[in-house]
Amino acid sequence: MKTMHELNVPVPVKRSLVVRNNKEVSKEQREIALKETEYSMFSFPADMLVLDFLSDSGSTSMTDLQWASLFHGDESYGRNKGYYVLFEAIRDTFERGDDQKRAINLILSGETNVERLMDELYLKPHEGGFVNGGIHQLARPNAFLVPQGRCAEHLLFSTIAPILKERNPDIEYYIPNNGHFDTTEANIAANGMHPVNLFSVNLFEEFPPDQMDVKNPFKGNMDSKELIVFIENKGVDSIPLIYLTITNNTAAGQPVSLNNIKAISEIAQSYEIPLFLDACRFAENSFFIKEFEDNYKNYSILEIIKETFSYVDGFTISFKKDGLANIGGGLFFRDRGFFYNKFSDNGNIGTKLKEKQILTFGNDSYGGLSGRAIMSIAVGLYEVVKEQYLRERIRLVREFALKLSQKGVPVVLPAGGHAVYINVEKFFEGTDMKIDDFGGVGFSIELLKHYGIRACELGPFAFEWDKKTPEQRKGILNLVRFAIPRNVYDSSHINYAVAAITELYENRENIPKVEVSRGANLRLRHFQSGLQPNYSI
Ligand code: F0G
Repeated sequence: MKTMHELNVPVPVKRSLVVRNNKEVSKEQREIALKETEYSMFSFPADMLVLDFLSDSGSTSMTDLQWASLFHGDESYGRNKGYYVLFEAIRDTFERGDDQKRAINLILSGETNVERLMDELYLKPHEGGFVNGGIHQLARPNAFLVPQGRCAEHLLFSTIAPILKERNPDIEYYIPNNGHFDTTEANIAANGMHPVNLFSVNLFEEFPPDQMDVKNPFKGNMDSKELIVFIENKGVDSIPLIYLTITNNTAAGQPVSLNNIKAISEIAQSYEIPLFLDACRFAENSFFIKEFEDNYKNYSILEIIKETFSYVDGFTISFKKDGLANIGGGLFFRDRGFFYNKFSDNGNIGTKLKEKQILTFGNDSYGGLSGRAIMSIAVGLYEVVKEQYLRERIRLVREFALKLSQKGVPVVLPAGGHAVYINVEKFFEGTDMKIDDFGGVGFSIELLKHYGIRACELGPFAFEWDKKTPEQRKGILNLVRFAIPRNVYDSSHINYAVAAITELYENRENIPKVEVSRGANLRLRHFQSGLQPNYSI
């Protein structure tokens, strides 16, 4: 008798207890809505869709444990219960490996022993890590809750930019990354610094689809040789921070290896430059490390996370990713570490960040989040590091990419952790679609119109090819992204999407070219401008 894992079909790992029924919407109704929303993917009513792959951000289904935690949400203005619980959950997740304390259970179980609550939660001092506690968080603030990831980026860069300018007004500042997400890039640029991408050299190498379960080339890595060349060229004083994004969303959602994280950390330390993570999707990245990196096969996910974070001085994070929660973000840095020392010469950097946090988002107890949201994030941190959940999550993304490639649809391989990307240039090979005809946009419009499926072009339209110099254009990939919300879809949804995409692929001659009909010069235009597909051609 075969064991359950030998049956050669995935073992179900969850069941649905709440159902949202799709509306029955006709193609004609979608056509009307598309016209009325100027063919903008961001403006199309979500309630009229069959499948929504626009983003994996905030679109997760919460688990029963998260829903239950909402009742513990405390909406007090100062030091709600969730503040303590979430900060403990962050210490548990990022610093303690398998040795979690789970003080959250005191709240979830309704502990009434006040001495115990004071000793183990409310007044317990912590120092030296990413989240000071008790009196130390007041003296040296180093943990900042905010509404979402980009708020953490704004907080960080808008606070360090004036410090750097005051220190040396004549120098240009650069922030290297393995792949800046667009909001990170925009926050750096808006504060007068230069974002730089040092993509891995193997990013565009071919990969055999049938090897996705067997090996992974970690195409999300930073090019460490280029980093050294870059630092030597620009000079250490020009580089206030180095960033690593795990997983690398901009590079087709590819994972970053622990070897690479360690190597970049050694380089950063040797030049005394603080290293930060953009930790969105840290759990999915850790699963790839466990699955494919030789030295880590026998590590637990939590031990891999602990080691990952041991190499860095701080991190920004969006709690909307990784299946954590529907909202939330944060900025954390190591108490009295490199970052603290580098930016505290003229007053404690933590106090400056806290001042801005209070001015912009809300006081440090809640940072613009509801007490209910804070509880859901805290519980989410324990949910998303479960290996069984992660295995199924990554498997489904991989199934999507594999099925598309078996139908001949060109996708970026191997699949990353949160999305499948169609290679638009290859998709239109042999047709007269040119790069400034925005074929990826035309494809997305047709997919939505005929099949009710929403995806997102991340190519010449989103990255504004027509407005860039020939040199800048080289950095633009031509992709359509299908980001997969967590715990929402299963194989039946994937099968429908694969059938629809394949049908369009086979009829790609009929996909219209698209013009930007309004707002071609708007900033971050793909959220704002109007489009017109040219059906007459
Ligand atoms: N960093 C990365 C790597 C991201 O993918 C995102 C968001 C952010 C930062 C910003 O976080 O949205 O909470 O402000 N990515 C979403 C996406 C929007 O669809 O890829 P946020």
